[in-house]
Amino acid sequence: SGFAAGRRPRVIVVGSGVAGLVTALELADVAEVVVVTKGAVEDGSTRYAQGGIAAAVMPGDSVESHVADTLAAGAGLGDPEAVRVLCEEGPARIRDLIAWGVGFDRAAGDFDAGLEGAHSRRRILHAGGDATGLAVETALVAAVRAQAVRVLEQTMLVELLTDGPSGTGSDARVVGVRVMRDGAFEEVWADAVVLASGGVGQLYPFTTNPAVSTGDGVAAALRAGAVLADVEFVQFHPTALAVPGPPAGVGSTPGVGAPAGVGSGAAGVAMALVSEAVRGDGAVLRNVDGARFLVHAHPLAELAPRDVVARAIATEMLATGAPVLLDATGVDDVEARFPTVTAACRAAGYDLAREPVPVAPAAHYWMGGIATDHDGRTSLPGLVAVGEAACTGVHGANRLASNSLLEGLVFAHRAAAALRAEFHSVRGMRSAAWSPPAGDVAPSAPSTEPTRAELQALMWRHAGLLRTAEGLLEAQRVLESWSIDTSGATDVRRLETANLLQLARVVVSAALAREESRGAHARADFPYPSTRYATPHGLREEVGA
Ligand code: SIN
Repeated sequence: SGFAAGRRPRVIVVGSGVAGLVTALELADVAEVVVVTKGAVEDGSTRYAQGGIAAAVMPGDSVESHVADTLAAGAGLGDPEAVRVLCEEGPARIRDLIAWGVGFDRAAGDFDAGLEGAHSRRRILHAGGDATGLAVETALVAAVRAQAVRVLEQTMLVELLTDGPSGTGSDARVVGVRVMRDGAFEEVWADAVVLASGGVGQLYPFTTNPAVSTGDGVAAALRAGAVLADVEFVQFHPTALAVPGPPAGVGSTPGVGAPAGVGSGAAGVAMALVSEAVRGDGAVLRNVDGARFLVHAHPLAELAPRDVVARAIATEMLATGAPVLLDATGVDDVEARFPTVTAACRAAGYDLAREPVPVAPAAHYWMGGIATDHDGRTSLPGLVAVGEAACTGVHGANRLASNSLLEGLVFAHRAAAALRAEFHSVRGMRSAAWSPPAGDVAPSAPSTEPTRAELQALMWRHAGLLRTAEGLLEAQRVLESWSIDTSGATDVRRLETANLLQLARVVVSAALAREESRGAHARADFPYPSTRYATPHGLREEVGA
């Protein structure tokens, strides 16, 4: 290799879900890889994924069809080239997962593919019935443990280190990370930093995301001057189990502990998901009167794109003041096919096979994130983003069900290949010198410090499923009056809430600026999509720091 200085390049991967672990595994032979993760290695969102992984591997399916469904769900905002990459390379990445030991469920000699909303055919591969994410995470953790990859658990990303002034428009290179571990800060330089740090579900009081999903990586990238895209698009899963208490049945498999890690607390506990695949197998949604209200909302009824289903449920809930009911009593073998969901319902006192269960929408997935090309490159040299933290453009305004593990797999593989090529071609190392990033913004006017719950309530109310200029302006005003001083802070929760506050501002401004309804972004005052957002590159809106 042309790599000089007689040492292996160092790559820091922030996050330990599917995207982070695949990147780590694929670079382990050419680089010194360090995975930094805020909680325990398996604490991220990946292991909560139920429905599965979409890929065109079944007889009669095609890449074209998966592309068409992905673009249709994305409501005109998806990047066709990125989507083609996703769908074309998906099957090969499924084979990688099988080689890493993931045992996908089979029936009659082939994969037992499930169906979910807005898919035109059965193409959702699953493992353990509805424990697909857990199977993927467990296999990848085992594979990483067998490699020379260091995993630093309970270690939070605080800042990206750059070799020049940070901020929008700077061409500073990212040269490392500042992390916090046991209340002490540490700077670690690297030849490349890969952010695989996930989404921002904890911006909302009701979310399917674990407590660790506080957008730390995206917020740090924003502070360092990276360009973000599509940030107004937050996906709400239509059917989270609407009962108080922690998600039972999740993480209960031996060998993987219960959700713990830093940042967890009663208020941040994820709601249990009721997989869309349950509706794919025939479950229906009923209002308090027992009527199937979705049949009036969309020709695909319960299997419409999830933004449509989530809004129809929210509208119904507003009208009746009660959760809606998911009726899976007509689904064959529901307990065997959906053991995770069945256990969660049972823990809440419901028998999924015999009675309807209360469900409600919950924040689930962030389509927006750090803008990347098809190889994970961001606007900052030295900084790569993959998985939910990235915005590759594949999801557009609304992610198609079961395309998120797939995106993590496909683009982590590509990002690792691109880094590998870069390490082979670069002569000599960049200096590892860095300057501290610009300090936190000092409050300029008297300001109040919000609690996490206040921030979440504000976002739910004004930047949730249905938005208006009036509400978003109110949210903006309140967000501006809030600040959280993080100088020298070693309290994880405080640092997380500060990241959430920063990202809340970005989500609200972008939602205010987009005067149309498209996919997951719905404005009561602009109820239709508008052509005014069309650009030569599609409809993508980018925001800087
Ligand atoms: C589900 O199983 O409904 C979740 C699938 C997804 O979020 O893609």
